[in-house]
Amino acid sequence: MQTRMKKILILNGPNLNLLGRREPSVYGERGFEDFFLELRQMYAGRAELEYFQSNVEGVLIDKIQEAGFACDGIVLNAGAYTHTSIAIGDAIRAVTAPVVEVHISNVYAREAYRQHSFLAAACAGCIAGFGLDSYRLAVEALLQAGKE
Ligand code: DQA
Repeated sequence: MQTRMKKILILNGPNLNLLGRREPSVYGERGFEDFFLELRQMYAGRAELEYFQSNVEGVLIDKIQEAGFACDGIVLNAGAYTHTSIAIGDAIRAVTAPVVEVHISNVYAREAYRQHSFLAAACAGCIAGFGLDSYRLAVEALLQAGKE
């Protein structure tokens, strides 16, 4: 039996366009586009991966609303909006696709204001602290979901 490839959107929020240049001691030295190409190759034939980034809260919400009814899952690193945005939490609740919250750094080992998420309770799960590999782990989780 042939299974349909799952469509997964990777959605990055504010300042994540600067990966590789932004605080490399926290977020690493690799740009996201380069990592994404590798991830796409890694999952070729298993998942259809798309990538979108915005620094604007409303644009992220528009994308969640659009992809959240059209794809099989969203991997979301909302950056600092994680800790501030009730609206993004509501958008996640509004859509049918499961959303996995992702962080490159271990937010629970950082400043107190990074230890609360307005998104986590609306998400299928949360992966934090594994560098860029957090995204791969989230894709893996979405691919495994529903198989058991
Ligand atoms: C981040 C953690 C957030 O606290 C921060 O605002 C970011 C990146 C992470 O991936 O570790 O922008 O989401």
